[in-house]
Amino acid sequence: MCGIVGYIGPKNVIPILINGLKKLEYRGYDSAGICFLNDGQIGIRRCAGKIKALETSIKKDRLKSLIGIGHTRWATHGKPTEENAHPHRAGGIVVVHNGIIENYIELKEALKKKGHKFTSETDTEVICHLIYSYTKKGDNLELATKKALKHVDGAYAIGVISEAEPDKIIAVKNDSPLCIGIGKGEYFIASDIPAFLKYTRDAIILENGDMATLTREGCSITNIISNKPVRIKPTTITWSPAMAEKGGYKHFMLKEIYEQPRAVADTIRGRFSVEKADVNLKEFSLDKAALKGLNKIFLVACGTSWHAALVGKYMIEDMARIPCEVDIASEFRYRRPLVPKGSLMIVITQSGETADTLAAQKEAKRLGAKTLTICNVVGSTSSRDADSIFYTHSGPEIGVASTKAFTTQLSALYIFSIAVARARGGMKPAKARELFEDLLQLPEKIESALHCDKEIQKIARKFHKVNDFLYLGRGINYPIALEGALKLKEISYIHAEGYPAGEMKHGPIALIDSNMPVVALAHDDHVLEKILSNMEEVKSRGGKVIAIATEGNTKIKARAPHIVYLPKTNYYLTPIIFSIPLHLLAYHISVLRKCNVDQPRNLAKSVTVE
Ligand code: G6P
Repeated sequence: MCGIVGYIGPKNVIPILINGLKKLEYRGYDSAGICFLNDGQIGIRRCAGKIKALETSIKKDRLKSLIGIGHTRWATHGKPTEENAHPHRAGGIVVVHNGIIENYIELKEALKKKGHKFTSETDTEVICHLIYSYTKKGDNLELATKKALKHVDGAYAIGVISEAEPDKIIAVKNDSPLCIGIGKGEYFIASDIPAFLKYTRDAIILENGDMATLTREGCSITNIISNKPVRIKPTTITWSPAMAEKGGYKHFMLKEIYEQPRAVADTIRGRFSVEKADVNLKEFSLDKAALKGLNKIFLVACGTSWHAALVGKYMIEDMARIPCEVDIASEFRYRRPLVPKGSLMIVITQSGETADTLAAQKEAKRLGAKTLTICNVVGSTSSRDADSIFYTHSGPEIGVASTKAFTTQLSALYIFSIAVARARGGMKPAKARELFEDLLQLPEKIESALHCDKEIQKIARKFHKVNDFLYLGRGINYPIALEGALKLKEISYIHAEGYPAGEMKHGPIALIDSNMPVVALAHDDHVLEKILSNMEEVKSRGGKVIAIATEGNTKIKARAPHIVYLPKTNYYLTPIIFSIPLHLLAYHISVLRKCNVDQPRNLAKSVTVE
């Protein structure tokens, strides 16, 4: 997730930008750059890789300026190269951007026809050119920016400076975070507060549509949606610098759990058209003919991503009626798999660097399969090796225990399943539209599912001292039972097992006694009655049932002492909603047991060795 900083004031901007960018490093990035005005002339310095490299490359120039903007880029459109690094420039206009412009291809084509020349693969560059085209017609920077943004669909936080108005920074926010720091005679913009906490604790968190104009005289804000001035009411930040980095949350894991409404919104943005009832296959370098010709789909992954693969099988087989096989990557690479003609391997990996997963991908290619990577890191090895790529755009995940990366993988698989079903003629447009509408509501549903946090904390307090946990699920939520158990053991070191509820009688039932909490995933679907019977079996043996259920389920009340209700969604999206309480439960138990939540013992975020 990119980071933006900007400064106008009496101090030299260069160290302020560099320090600010360093404070945003936690957001993840793969290139960095700054822009400053010196004697009215724009200077831009950028480089691929780390801020340290940028710092070293500018050191000898002893740059000085009193205004500038800087950026750390986490690649989404285009590889992490110097050309794609921000700031981007068109004429005398310079822009830094965080977010995704959905309609950038159309905008770019239209601008090219008017003679605009592009130098990067980014979506951002279209914003510069649009603003530039209006300033050329005589508009000032505010008006030009406002007019330009009218053309833009998507999420953005931007910082803009202009050679023609050298004492001004414009900052606009729409669905990507941006805040303003108010110092004494100096003003800052930043994606997050830590970037300016060293200089001021007075901050304004911009709302959607807010456009801030920072000059040497002061700061003013207008909302470009309502066209009304915004009253400036700075908040005094009391967080410690360490907390500020985590957005006020105690741990990255909790922050990432709470980021899911935004992360899922970014995954699904611009990926389908409700009107056309179809997925934008070009986004992934896929075409209908290739999907039509498929005979079999393999899904491979490790760890939490493997749970996504298991859910993917339920989604694809159910929606698109094409046989799927799921493998743990380290098994696939050594098992002499039979890969028929017309096979596709879906490689699911948040990092794109997991050694076993890469080896399985290589093996599938050797055996003649096409590969599609569902990945969160642009330019990663897996994405470079794949025929098609579905980037999840969930932003970097710092906590070792995967949360938002997982639910965005599930969102990607949902979209892919609809794409295959539509291409093969197995899904009517009306059904696809209904599924898309449900998906569009998902970020809001996740937001309301997060309200279960208080209830989960109570449950965590009651059970954090036990030695074992059992998780039961059926159908599409069976992999979520596995995921709940994995998370708990990873970060709290409690022994936990996930089971398909129907299998309980073939083994785990022997473990149930009054010390055993059993988390039962009881979604309203065709197997609800079955899971209710499984809950009875646990209860009659003294086990403590923690039921995760759908709002409005009245049958569950008598069967469990602890019930967590979640908003209703369609069957395919329940794994996303049901993951939320399970991730929160693991988190709170880990905190109560005083474990290292973000860096559990013996585990690594990216396992690049076999
Ligand atoms: C490690 C991480 C897990 C992750 C797995 C696969 O084990 O700790 O959180 O699910 O690797 O990683 P990938 O990047 O391939 O999704």
